[in-house]
Amino acid sequence: MQVTFSAAALAKSGAIVIPLFEDGKKPKAFDAVDEKTGGALTRALKAADFKAKKGKLLEIVSPAGVSNARVIVVGAGASKDFGALDAEALGGAATARLLVTRDKAALFALDGFSAKKVDDGELAARIAHGARMRTYRFDKYRTKEEQEEKPVLAKIAVYTPAAGAKAAYAVHEKIGDGVFLTRDLVSEPANVLYPDSFAKRCQKLADLGVKVTVLGEAQMKKLGMGSLLGVGHGSDRESKLVAMEWMGGKKGDAPVAFVGKGVTFDTGGISLKPAPGMGDMKWDMGGAGAVTGAIAALAGRKAKANVVGVIGLVENMPDGKAQRPGDVVKSMSGQTIEVLNTDAEGRLVLADALWWTQETYKPKAVIDLATLTGAIIISLAHEFAGMFTKDDKLSKQLEKAGEEVGDLLWRMPLTKAHDEMIKSDIADMQNIGGKGGGSSTAAAFLGRFIQDGVPWAHLDIAGMAWNEKDKPTIPKGGSGYGVRLLDQFVRENFEG
Ligand code: BES
Ligand code: MN
Ligand code: ZN
Repeated sequence: MQVTFSAAALAKSGAIVIPLFEDGKKPKAFDAVDEKTGGALTRALKAADFKAKKGKLLEIVSPAGVSNARVIVVGAGASKDFGALDAEALGGAATARLLVTRDKAALFALDGFSAKKVDDGELAARIAHGARMRTYRFDKYRTKEEQEEKPVLAKIAVYTPAAGAKAAYAVHEKIGDGVFLTRDLVSEPANVLYPDSFAKRCQKLADLGVKVTVLGEAQMKKLGMGSLLGVGHGSDRESKLVAMEWMGGKKGDAPVAFVGKGVTFDTGGISLKPAPGMGDMKWDMGGAGAVTGAIAALAGRKAKANVVGVIGLVENMPDGKAQRPGDVVKSMSGQTIEVLNTDAEGRLVLADALWWTQETYKPKAVIDLATLTGAIIISLAHEFAGMFTKDDKLSKQLEKAGEEVGDLLWRMPLTKAHDEMIKSDIADMQNIGGKGGGSSTAAAFLGRFIQDGVPWAHLDIAGMAWNEKDKPTIPKGGSGYGVRLLDQFVRENFEG
């Protein structure tokens, strides 16, 4: 999809998209087109009783007087409340329609479209960004799709006289590239994306100036990563640990570290999951996917910060060689773990990935992302990721960044009591708690692998990595949750 910033207010062909506030504020193109079409727009608004409510569309097909296939009027709600995320949703909603109408090109006419909260250039950039985000499609395996059903939208032109729209969009485009990378990774089936092939995709980030290091099983064994390696024992695929360094900040400055759970498929292992829905576990690498996409975004926009992304890549399979419930493993930290449930594997992977990250980089903050527990979906549905941290400052920074980009977080409890629930009779800890508070006991487990004084937050994104239904800027499927959150968190707290 090509996005350009056009110098012409009207196009001769394709669709014209015109936003409209419910208080009547509108771009100049509205009156221009209305005049050319002998009042077709005004008549259509009236006939449809169109109130310009947020997200509502009115389509006028092939009006006389212009040669365009259609004019789409998009409701924007109240102008005083209209923010950057509303602009993205507006671009996305219009684009959803353009994908169905099968227009090849569309012009978003934004001259004179202004809102209080966002300047005109950023507003136009966000509409364009939202439009592009909605065009994402994972269709590489569809060989028989009816040609008439395939979207053909190839060009979006944005008309705005606002200075800075193009430059603002260029930054969002890089972040969008990161989101698309994450969506690709999350969508890939597990026969295609497994630890080694995932690591190879990470290596492509070298093109952006990222230093990529891949550890295999022999190296991890030497380092004593018995916890991570135990999860991969039943798999024919070799486990990997990947580190991606983007050092765009001051030389020698400690980096901020993002650590991701990358279980490329989670059968549950010997504690086998039930069959229904097990296919979802191809996206049990959503944390690793988000970390990879975030590093791509930061490198793409040349963020002035030192950031490292570390992902633990394993496949959790049942097998004659698989670890058993009751096994005791030794982690790189030296702590021993009684594995009472082989399906609580993400924390076992993160235990060693987190420890290795701290030992290797001495980071000034650590954020981990993981599709860690089904329980977080019970708590927060698909509205928020759960955030677990003892650090109030970090909590505020993350919550704010999330709110600004629409990757929402809700802080959850993490207390001494939760830590006590994972005491083991025979080892330093066990990998499951009791019946209740499953997301918090999982967080408490991770907390045991955080070194003293290191600011740390754990984000449980199990409810967010995959969308069951379309949202304005996210088609059904892999969401790319976390990429924008991490990018914004870095921008606000570690740059300049
Ligand atoms: N990958 C799952 C968590 C999950 C569930 C992610 C649903 C996305 C959607 C994780 O490895 C898991 O199996 N967790 C168990 C933990 C339990 C055994 C303590 C769970 O949530 O049931
Ligand atoms: Mn599991
Ligand atoms: Zn899992």
